[in-house]
Amino acid sequence: MTDKAMPLDDIRVVDMTHVWFGPWCTMMLAYMGAEVIRVEPPWGGIDRLSQSGVFGGVPYTFHHLNLNKKDVTLNTKNEEGLEILKELIKKSDIVVQNMSVGAMERMGLGYDVLKELKPDIIYAALSGFGQTGPYKDRKSYAMIAEAMSSHTRLTGDGVDPEGPPIEMAQAYGDIGPGTMAAFAIVSALRHRDRTGEGQMLDLAQLDIMTSFNTAITLWQLGQMTPEEMRKKSPGGGIGGLFKAKDGEWVRIGAYSPNAVDTMRKLFDDDEFNKEKLEKYVTEHTSKEVVDLLVEARLPVAPIYQTKDTCADPHLAAREMFVEIEHPKAGKYKAINFPFKMSKTQPEIQSPAPLLGQDNKYVICDLLGKSEEFYEELKKKGVISWT
Ligand SMILES: CC(C)(COP(=O)(O)OP(=O)(O)OC[C@H]1O[C@@H](n2cnc3c(N)ncnc32)[C@H](O)[C@@H]1OP(=O)(O)O)[C@@H](O)C(=O)NCCC(=O)NCCS
Repeated sequence: MTDKAMPLDDIRVVDMTHVWFGPWCTMMLAYMGAEVIRVEPPWGGIDRLSQSGVFGGVPYTFHHLNLNKKDVTLNTKNEEGLEILKELIKKSDIVVQNMSVGAMERMGLGYDVLKELKPDIIYAALSGFGQTGPYKDRKSYAMIAEAMSSHTRLTGDGVDPEGPPIEMAQAYGDIGPGTMAAFAIVSALRHRDRTGEGQMLDLAQLDIMTSFNTAITLWQLGQMTPEEMRKKSPGGGIGGLFKAKDGEWVRIGAYSPNAVDTMRKLFDDDEFNKEKLEKYVTEHTSKEVVDLLVEARLPVAPIYQTKDTCADPHLAAREMFVEIEHPKAGKYKAINFPFKMSKTQPEIQSPAPLLGQDNKYVICDLLGKSEEFYEELKKKGVISWT
């Protein structure tokens, strides 16, 4: 826990996100010190309710994506709930949401309304396909954006160009766009602080995943796929994924001319190539291979299972895992924020919030409502509590 000044500690975010894309984005802002208040329906967001990998009542992904946040429940389909949300927006700097296009407008909270509530509001509308264009009404998840930005096909091509497409592990179609969304928001904040102007940010998973794909620049320049390029100009590197004698796998990447020279000197063979490396690896344990190539200062890594990543001494030395305690899931080692900043080091301040844990703070302390009013909201089911 720290009380040091953080870059966003005078910023309040109304977080109307769900699943991965939006929550990851707002968690970045929370890490940097913003007061991020997740607004959930009294029955809980769809990401809280998912039933796989549940710990302390919520799925592990909810724990992963919602650190350092506060949580209020408000039924925005109820007039009073919506009114309270509007009051909260008036006292905030940023609204982030990743509902399907049109849901905010149906709620009566389009950008025109948000601007009236708070003229310099920064409104980040995250979506699958953007707020405009022929596909804007389509719903989306990471794998939808990965598919259409051609990452799924390219991942399959990396294994076998004739084989099926392969989905990327994890949800990089959420985490990548979520990180970019945080960058867009912080840039908009800088603009607001210089000019007093807020703005709307239309941030689409598909646009952002498209921007990540270098194969598109290859196609635009040369109308070829990475596979065709590799056949045409294989490059001079020596590397790949290889299975060692002990059954473990290693990744080797000697791709620069210097690295190739080092590899050839190491094996005292001017003709040393990928095939010879593969043979060498099959005759040695993964540790022997890694130790040898690390010593030679060549890029190499054992291919870890998640449990190995968690046990790695280097990551421990970098303090990438810190013990925290969730009131219902108990103690566990959470992943620390992955930057090292010499003045404003982000830290885990709190575990993923319980549903409505900050109802009273938001409604009574922040918005100045009475205890009686608060109790009435509870009775009417406008809010819920854990
Ligand atoms: C993820 C997604 C497919 C989920 O779809 P969904 O569960 O049908 O949810 P939608 O976003 O379409 O709609 C949300 C609904 O919840 C309602 N809602 C949201 N917060 C609420 C609250 N606090 N109280 C009451 N209702 C609430 C909305 O008003 C909306 O209702 P409506 O459709 O009647 O207008 C969809 O939100 C989507 O495509 N989002 C954009 C892309 C994205 O971010 N995907 C997730 C990647 S991890």
